[in-house]
Amino acid sequence: MDKTLLYEGKAKKIYSIHGKPDIFLQEFKNSATAFNGIKKDEIEGKGILNNKISSIFFEYLISNGIPTHFLEKISDNEMLVKKVSILKIEVVCRNIAAGSLVKRYGFVEGTELKKPIIEFYYKSDELGDPLFTEAHIYELGLATESELNIIKELTLKINKLLKDFLIQKKIKLVDFKLEFGKDSKGEIILADEISPDTCRFWDADTNKKLDKDNFRFDLGNLTDAYIEILNRISN
Ligand code: C5P
Repeated sequence: MDKTLLYEGKAKKIYSIHGKPDIFLQEFKNSATAFNGIKKDEIEGKGILNNKISSIFFEYLISNGIPTHFLEKISDNEMLVKKVSILKIEVVCRNIAAGSLVKRYGFVEGTELKKPIIEFYYKSDELGDPLFTEAHIYELGLATESELNIIKELTLKINKLLKDFLIQKKIKLVDFKLEFGKDSKGEIILADEISPDTCRFWDADTNKKLDKDNFRFDLGNLTDAYIEILNRISN
C-alpha cells in the first residue's frame, strides 16, 4: 500500500493512501506518554493492544448506530478509517470521580457522580490542552452550537453503550476522552481511538486500575492491564 505520513501524534500516526482520497490509515505506536509528554516510554506490544481494543469498541458502537470513522482493522497495529478533519476539542465524560476531577475540585476518588459530567478541553499541545467552556469554543470558531449539541448527545449515548457493555465484563467505566471529526459531507462522527490510553477502566469488584494510570503513576504493569482489558472484552 502506497502511503504518505500526514500527521504523527504521541500515540498514533495518520497516513493518506495513494488512490484512496476518502480513507486514512491509522497506525498505533508503542509510545506511552503522560503529563503532556513529560513522562515517556516505549512499551513493546502497546500499539497492537490499543488497535485491537479500539477496533472492538468501534465495531460495537457502529452496530449500535453510532457514526464513527472506523472502517476495518487491517493488521495488528493498523486500521483504515474515514478521512475526517478533527475538531480541536477533546471531550471528556466522567461517571466516577478520578484524575483531574479529584485534583481540581477535591472530589473523593471513586465517588459515583449523580449524572455524567461532560468537559471540553482545547486540543492544543502548545497550550497544554486547557479545560474550556462552550463560549470559548464558539469564540475560537471550533464548532457551532448545533455541532456541539450533536457532540454532547453522541457522547452521552456512547457513555451509556460502553458502560452497559463493560459492566457485563466486570469493568467500571470511570471516565474517557473522545475526539470527533467532520467527514466529507460535513457530518460529525466519532474519531481517534477508544483504548486504555484514553479511558479509565477499573475492575468492578476490586477497583484495580486497568488503564494508563498504571504508567502515569507507576502503579503496575501497563501491558498486563491492557491484555486483561482485551481478554475481557473479547469474551
Ligand atoms: O486527567 P483527567 O482526569 O482529566 O482525564 C480524564 C480522562 O480523559 C481519562 O480517561 C484520560 O485517560 C483521558 N485523557 C486523554 N487524553 C488527554 C487527557 C485525558 O485521553 N489529553
